[in-house]
Amino acid sequence: MEEKKVDVIIVGCGGRGTGYAGFIEKCPDRARVVAVAEPRDFYRDQVGDMHNIPQNMRFHTWEEIAALPKFADAVLVCTMDDLHEAPVMAFADKGYDILLEKPIAPTLEACRRIVAKVKEKGIIFAVCHVMRYTKYTRQLKKLLEEGVIGDIVSIQHLEPVGHWHQCHSFVRGNWRNSKETCFMLLAKCCHDMDWLSHVMDKKCSKVHSFGSLFEFRAEKQPAGAADRCTDCPPDIESMCPYSALKIYLRDRVAKGQQGWPTNVLTTDVTPAGVVKALREGPYGRCIYKCDNDVVDNQVVNMTFENGATAQMVMTAFCNESGRQTRIFGTKGSILTDSSLIHITNFLTGEKRTVDTNIANDGSILSGHGGGDGGIMDAFIRAVATGDRSGILSGADETLESHLMCFLAEESRLTGEVKEVK
Ligand SMILES: NC(=O)c1ccc[n+]([C@@H]2O[C@H](COP(=O)([O-])OP(=O)(O)OC[C@H]3O[C@@H](n4cnc5c(N)ncnc54)[C@H](O)[C@@H]3O)[C@@H](O)[C@H]2O)c1
Repeated sequence: MEEKKVDVIIVGCGGRGTGYAGFIEKCPDRARVVAVAEPRDFYRDQVGDMHNIPQNMRFHTWEEIAALPKFADAVLVCTMDDLHEAPVMAFADKGYDILLEKPIAPTLEACRRIVAKVKEKGIIFAVCHVMRYTKYTRQLKKLLEEGVIGDIVSIQHLEPVGHWHQCHSFVRGNWRNSKETCFMLLAKCCHDMDWLSHVMDKKCSKVHSFGSLFEFRAEKQPAGAADRCTDCPPDIESMCPYSALKIYLRDRVAKGQQGWPTNVLTTDVTPAGVVKALREGPYGRCIYKCDNDVVDNQVVNMTFENGATAQMVMTAFCNESGRQTRIFGTKGSILTDSSLIHITNFLTGEKRTVDTNIANDGSILSGHGGGDGGIMDAFIRAVATGDRSGILSGADETLESHLMCFLAEESRLTGEVKEVK
């Protein structure tokens, strides 16, 4: 099918919006960014300059663009979680196709309103559940569909968030407080719940969950520690695995690493610039003295319509790595680390490994195991051709797996088993 060139607007040029702008820069024959909306000058101009966007197409807020008659094909909504609903409603009303960052919205009611709107308008709509689009997941699905392990009976899935990543995003950073953004399952593990329902390929019927904020609380602060790492006595600071001086300066800037996560703290990613950010900003706070409330460990148990079961474990207390999954089937089993797929056949005893060859070069194309590039590729193709078959994370399947997250969180809070309906 012939592809027309797609004109895109990016709303929110933070980490995600800038990353997607980088993808489009690499495929100038397929798409171009014609306008941006971003309140912060540095980030607005970074994307504006990357795509030679004229000054009058560099807007401060999404509202300014939504007030104009439609002038592009699609909008990428990359604002924070609590700023998804208003722009999606406005751009859907104008008839733009929309790529929306996950989660759809922080409440189930808002998710339902958004899904109803995009369906009413009939626009092309995809949510960035990037894990569905990785080469690894596609290969795994193909093997499962070929029946290499028979029917799936149960899945054990680990999301190893990792100690420094938890500190950066979920204790000091954007997603630390469920009242400001959303709860941990929706913020981080909506990917995992969605991926499990995609791999299982059956409807989830019940969920149950436990989880807690085990470590990063005021009463766990070591005696004598300061409330900011730059003020902490050296004998205490040097023994803290969560010290911001360790995470950003010693482990990264001192080794010449200036990208994510340190570039979230400041646009001046020099030792002096980072120290200033740690002295003044949220990322220099003692890990035990932040305004965080999201969990640092959680377990979700699920059962599916055919009696199959799954368990998802999320933990901060590990090295960050690819998700690790065991899939137990009627004819064999699979052990994977999001890259290598080890298969055992019960009848023959044969063991073999499929290498899905995931390499991350730090670019958007390889981010999330290639999923970031994968979803952009699918969305641009759908908008260009009108063929939606490449979109694996549309309104219905995303709402379904978000519902599993909302109910699992309710279960964590009430102790009740929740029916998914
Ligand atoms: N798919 C994934 O794997 C993945 C990974 C990380 C984050 N996310 C999601 O992506 C979204 C963005 O995350 P991020 O890390 O890029 O956040 P970010 O804070 O870096 O970017 C959000 C940007 O929106 C801008 N903004 C605020 N108000 C605006 C307005 N009125 N108009 C236009 N822009 C406005 C902010 O200035 C900021 O630059 C969040 O919903 C997050 O949960 C998804």
